[in-house]
Amino acid sequence: MEDSAVMTSPLRKPFIAGNWKMHLTLAESLALAKEVRSGCGQNGPDVALCVPFTAITVVAGAVQGSSVLVGGQDLHWEAQGAFTGEVSARQLADAGCRTVVIGHSERRRCFGETDETVNKKLKAALGAGLVPIVCVGETLDEREAQKTYRVIETQVRGAFAGFSPAELGTVVVAYEPVWAIGTGKTAAPAQAQDSHTFIRKLVARAIDEKLAAGMRILYGGSVKADNIDSLMAEPDLDGALVGGESLKAANFVRIIQFKTQAGMERKA
Ligand code: 13P
Repeated sequence: MEDSAVMTSPLRKPFIAGNWKMHLTLAESLALAKEVRSGCGQNGPDVALCVPFTAITVVAGAVQGSSVLVGGQDLHWEAQGAFTGEVSARQLADAGCRTVVIGHSERRRCFGETDETVNKKLKAALGAGLVPIVCVGETLDEREAQKTYRVIETQVRGAFAGFSPAELGTVVVAYEPVWAIGTGKTAAPAQAQDSHTFIRKLVARAIDEKLAAGMRILYGGSVKADNIDSLMAEPDLDGALVGGESLKAANFVRIIQFKTQAGMERKA
C-alpha cells in the first residue's frame, strides 16, 4: 500500500467529467446537456461532457455561457491529412471542445491504442490548447497478478515521455481500473486512493514534484450518485470520469454535487 498522501494544492479544483461513449442521438444529447447545465451551480467543481464527435457542436451550443465544458473522446495526433475517419485536435477545438479524453481503456482494448499513440495524441491536444484527460488503469488479470503499479507506471511514463513539467501543467490523469468500468464493481475508496497516491508520487519522482502536487487525478469505474461522496472523501481523488451514470441527468447532477468535507475544503 502507498502511504496516504501528502500534498494538496489549490490548483486541484475538483473536476467531474461525463464520458457519454457511443450513446445518444442529437435530440437526446441536447436534452441531456440542457439538464446538466441547469443542474450545475455557480460554485461547484469543473464539469465537462465528453461526447461523440457528432454531438460536439450541438452540446457546445447548449452549454455556451455556462461553466460546463465540452470534450472529445479521442483525437488523431496529426494536424490534418488523409486519415479517413479521424478527427484532429484543431477540429475538436474549432467545434467547441476544451478538453479531450486520451487513451481510454476501450480504445486501448478495441482499437489498438498504445502508450506511444497516447503520447503523440497528448502532444497534439496540448498543441491545440485542449485539456487532456489521460486514462490509465490495470485489468483484473493484472491486478490479481500484483502488476497494478507496474502497469500504471508504464502507462504514465509512456504518456508523459519527452514532455517538460511546464508543458504538462494542464494535464489531468484519469485512473480507471478496467475491471471497474461498466461492471458495477467500483474500486473501494481506499483502493482508488492507493493507486492515485502511487500515480502522484510517480509523477513527483519521474517528472516534477510541483507538477505532481497540482495534478488532478480523477477516478473512473462505476461511479454513481451513491458512491461519489465516499470516493471524493479520499485526499488524492480530485474528481471522477463517469460513464453510464453521466447519461442520466439527475444522477450525474448529484455526482457533480458530491458532498464531503474534504471535497468542500478543496473547493474553497
Ligand atoms: P462506467 O462509469 O460506466 O463504469 O464507465 C467508466 C468509464 O469508462 C468512464 O470513462
